[in-house]
Amino acid sequence: MSYLKFNNGDRISQVGLGTWKSEENKVGEAVKHALKTGYTHIDCAAIYGNEAEIGEALTDIFKNSDIKRDDIFITSKLWNNAHRKEDVIPALKQTLSDLQLDYLDLYLMHWPVAFKSGLYGFPESNDDFLSLDEVPLIETWEAMVEAKNQGLVKHIGVSNFSIKKLEDLMNKSDTAPEMNQIELHPYLQQEEMLNFCNKHQILITAYSPLGSQDRTPEMKANDEPTLLDNQMVNTIAEKHKVTAAQVLINFHVSRGCITIPKSVTPSRIEQNLSSLEFQLEQSDLNQLKELDKHYRYVNGKFFETSDGKYHNIYDE
Ligand code: A2P
Repeated sequence: MSYLKFNNGDRISQVGLGTWKSEENKVGEAVKHALKTGYTHIDCAAIYGNEAEIGEALTDIFKNSDIKRDDIFITSKLWNNAHRKEDVIPALKQTLSDLQLDYLDLYLMHWPVAFKSGLYGFPESNDDFLSLDEVPLIETWEAMVEAKNQGLVKHIGVSNFSIKKLEDLMNKSDTAPEMNQIELHPYLQQEEMLNFCNKHQILITAYSPLGSQDRTPEMKANDEPTLLDNQMVNTIAEKHKVTAAQVLINFHVSRGCITIPKSVTPSRIEQNLSSLEFQLEQSDLNQLKELDKHYRYVNGKFFETSDGKYHNIYDE
């Protein structure tokens, strides 16, 4: 197993189980299978709508196996409808209740975007959004700092933040984010973000590490296959006698990132963890660098408003 460390010495496994899009009635079994296979890290979020089922699975595991709460690392994320300072801790407590836990190892601000307090689901109009002047990110962040001070979470961080937003938060707060969880894969390598986070001791978690089963419009226009079908990735996989998915997961580990491949399929859950059992060579990594084409699957456009409250979410 391969771990990275937070500044206080706490460890996080570089390969965790993702639960975004994990279907109802499957996610609980997936979590149990992962923990029995040797995973120690599960990535969750309130908006995934499956924390209650994960909570039942965790309770079952603690009752019926040797695995203890302290042996594992659980992340969750604050949804955009609870960014006001008075909403943060109640939202966190709801997640803790759903997950049947006393504390989280890591709590992330899911997006640098605020909705009206308590808005259910996704916004339908501009009025459903609160601007960052109305609820500045620092307000949400300081409430997360308070949650950490209260012992409800051990570490705090952000997700989908640009370098500019990270810098802004770090200038305004005495407490720097300990993690930025972002979309990352060979088609979107974000070298500048990696260098920035490395310099400031912010860990990075790669989401959508396998790319996607879908192709972006640019990929379709350029007649590019998905990452799992990419010729170069598959040639490297054949050389190491592993699968394309294992190459993609190992790519993140080799770059010093954490990654959270989602699967509800037992054999794939096992396969993904065993991506730690081989090493890509520098020549493989050099080749994979050529795939950096800035193809983003989660483009943030769904949060852009026509009144300009939100545009260019990633500050690019
Ligand atoms: P499934 O859950 O049905 O096993 P990402 O984490 O990059 O979003 O990728 C998740 C997608 O990739 C899911 O559709 C998942 O399917 C699939 N997947 C996960 N692990 C593997 C693997 N080892 N090989 C092929 N597909 C995988």
